[in-house]
Amino acid sequence: MSMLKNPATKYAPFPPIALPNRQWPGNTITRAPAWMSTDLRDGNQALFEPMSVDTKLAFFEMLTQIGIKEIEVAFPSASQTDFDFVRRLIDEKRIPDDVTIEVLTQARDHLIDRTFESLRGARRAIIHVYNAAAPVFRETVFGVDRAGCIEIAVNAARRIKARAAEQPETEWVFQYSPEVFSSTELEFALEISEAVADVWQPTPERPMILNLPATVEGATPNIYADQIEWMCRHLSRRAATIVAVHPHNDRGTAIAAAELALLAGADRIEGCLFGNGERTGNVDLVTLALNLYTQGIDPGLDFSRINDVARFVEDATGLPIHPRHPYVGDLVFTAFSGSHQDAIKKGFAVQKEDAIWAVPYMPIDPRDLGRSYDSVIRVNSQSGKGGISWLLENSYGLTLPRRMLVEFSGVVQQHMDATGAEMTPAGIWQLFTHTYLEAETPIRLARHRLEEQGEQHNVTLDIDWQGRQTRLTGCGNGPLAAALDALGANVTVHSFEERSLGSGADARAIAFVELTVADRPGTLFGAGCSTSILEASLRALVSAVNRAQAETLANGQPPVCATI
Ligand code: KIV
Ligand code: ZN
Repeated sequence: MSMLKNPATKYAPFPPIALPNRQWPGNTITRAPAWMSTDLRDGNQALFEPMSVDTKLAFFEMLTQIGIKEIEVAFPSASQTDFDFVRRLIDEKRIPDDVTIEVLTQARDHLIDRTFESLRGARRAIIHVYNAAAPVFRETVFGVDRAGCIEIAVNAARRIKARAAEQPETEWVFQYSPEVFSSTELEFALEISEAVADVWQPTPERPMILNLPATVEGATPNIYADQIEWMCRHLSRRAATIVAVHPHNDRGTAIAAAELALLAGADRIEGCLFGNGERTGNVDLVTLALNLYTQGIDPGLDFSRINDVARFVEDATGLPIHPRHPYVGDLVFTAFSGSHQDAIKKGFAVQKEDAIWAVPYMPIDPRDLGRSYDSVIRVNSQSGKGGISWLLENSYGLTLPRRMLVEFSGVVQQHMDATGAEMTPAGIWQLFTHTYLEAETPIRLARHRLEEQGEQHNVTLDIDWQGRQTRLTGCGNGPLAAALDALGANVTVHSFEERSLGSGADARAIAFVELTVADRPGTLFGAGCSTSILEASLRALVSAVNRAQAETLANGQPPVCATI
């Protein structure tokens, strides 16, 4: 059964656009566009609870700190809060010299007048007027034909020109948007835009902004790119026009649409931080900027403390940022899978401080965004040795011998299969401690004494054997051999390693003993930790023997320490 109607929606993809010799597929992006943030307008109007004036003031300041130079601050004729906000910005001289505020108005006389009122005294301002041009809006919403639609736009353009002339203290920039451009017949979008430009008479020195919004994203990004290139080719005053794009994300492809639109000739991008905005949001300026950054193009915006920006925006909008949101999501620098972790670990091992970033699976150095490596590797049931050793190394300074890591990974895996939960670094350390350092049954080492006689080592061990205290003695050609002799354990020491844990006054020794048990394939590890090197190694031996004992008993085999 198919759910498809034909055509499925009025926003369905256009027939291929006649664009002979289209250029954009062969172009590359070589510089950042002009950025325009509409967080305080498009973003704000899409919130459950629009921002207060104070929140907007703080948001505005944050945007200027990031480096955004054009900020659509309000829809002043639509709400008193927005009107008051514009007044506060101007009256309290909060607008930096290199920042231009922008306001939106519908194409209606009294609303345009009120908008100009809000801007009185501004040093420089962009006045942005729009009317819907797409057939579905002309027919269903406004009941106008093409001529009527153009008349609305032209009247508004005239009113704006006249009002601007009455407030000459402000440097005015005019912006027009044929709303729902992406679903408008291209010839008509051009006709209405030209009609507005005829009124405003922009020049290369005083250009107008023509914004071509994908108000509702309805087609694949290549169609939008074709539309933008077509407009750029046909505009009669291209040199006097800043072409802006304003992609929404209804199909989830706003980023691609914006990037292809840049290839197609757009000069300016309108969007919101982290993709806030009507419905599925406006295009995400952060992702766009950082996509450029990863290509070696300076976006001209500063996201070197991206977490601060993210927390601010979440507070201001009341909307959480998805944990997998590019660059900023809590999980985007986290690898769970074993093969990813392994590759990342190897990448970190060879990555030089100032070299080009080349760590596998990580498109950007988290540090460039002020993020840490702390959560790069997390361990769950998909994880492998790489993740476990990363966490132990980074959080506890503990490097396990390679084969021990393999063994311990199995322990971690079993634990996770049983609990189903992800393991934190503390959880892994706890499991390591419980498995090896606290493997104190049946034998707990209470005290030891070692004497050396030439090649020979004599050891005395005071142990608790299931609560009973016993003194054992043994000798051998080294401390471990002597202790093994004392324990009478039926095992062979296969390898021994020792290293320091921590540094300075708090440093301790950690020792690892690898055993083989007769008739048991493979080896088995123990670990011991102490401020004394000798004690750490004896504890590691006891830990390994205890583990071997537990295993042989569980398997119904003869115990390795039957004689105690
Ligand atoms: O999405 C849109 O078309 C708009 C216009 C007002 C430019 O937000
Ligand atoms: Zn919009």
